[in-house]
Amino acid sequence: MREAIAAANSNIALAKYWGKRDEVLNLPYTGSISITLAGLTTTARVAFDSEHRSDRVAMNGELVVGAQAVAVRKFLDCVRQLADERTTAEVEVQTNFPVAAGLASSASTFAALALASATALGLSLPARQISVLARRGSGSASRSIFGGYVEWLAGEESDGSDSYAVPLAPADSWRLGIVIAITDLARKQVGSRQGMAHALKRSPFFPAWLETHEADLEAVRRGILERDLTLLGEAAEHNCLKMHAVSMASSPALLYWNPATVAVMRRVLQLREGGADAYFTIDAGPQVKIICPWTQREGIAAAIREVPGVQQVLLSEPGGPATLVEGL
Ligand code: PMV
Repeated sequence: MREAIAAANSNIALAKYWGKRDEVLNLPYTGSISITLAGLTTTARVAFDSEHRSDRVAMNGELVVGAQAVAVRKFLDCVRQLADERTTAEVEVQTNFPVAAGLASSASTFAALALASATALGLSLPARQISVLARRGSGSASRSIFGGYVEWLAGEESDGSDSYAVPLAPADSWRLGIVIAITDLARKQVGSRQGMAHALKRSPFFPAWLETHEADLEAVRRGILERDLTLLGEAAEHNCLKMHAVSMASSPALLYWNPATVAVMRRVLQLREGGADAYFTIDAGPQVKIICPWTQREGIAAAIREVPGVQQVLLSEPGGPATLVEGL
């Protein structure tokens, strides 16, 4: 049996991907930049030559059916096509953090699946090609192939061959603290795929999002390379609020926040007024991720735990790339 196991970390976007120019290939209109998160990890075991007529997918011990199973099968079809293979696979995915609640479990899942399935089928692809493959599962997964600070280049080709992630700076080049406030543990209602498609079609602000994104990318990139947290944090917050404003202004409205999301945002602003270097960002869900200097993370986490409605606080930092592992 040809099998491989890989692990990949989730990531948070500081300049976000929101809008596809190609829905099948997951090609974005814009570039995006993220931090790969240590300790928020998905491990995927993929074994080909299964006895079953179709792929079998289990997540955290439960057989997956419906849209999620279809997404994994379609992804495996891409890998099979590359390797000129026809056999079905057994897939086992384990995630150590709340899935589908805006913590980018699809990013770590498809990054781990890309590395495991390509390896199992004997495709020895450079990391850039694994990133292209991961992108087919979920756009943000292209970034989770690399560790530290990562940029996904939008690319221009219609086949997506130049749309992959590249490392910007290694994880240990700048040890930021990352505090994650979980305000709702339930599965989110509108996934990022539907959310961005809706905003693209139904928000009058979408053109403004595209027009102003490059400046945010530039500021975020420079903030990372110059290790300037004020520059990085202000640009990331601005870009996050714009993404959510674009979505809220869709018709019908798309609102990812709950009262605790807003309370955490307010607390971060207050902490900043009190001298902390904390900045928030929010992806397609109600959780708030806060970046700050490593030395401030415990104090900030303690303050955030006190905010009414916060269910759980996780601590992270820039983490490593997707890797092959020995066992689940
Ligand atoms: O990769 P997807 O399809 O789950 O989309 C991710 C969208 C955001 O998380 C909101 C932004 C991003 O760049 O990760």
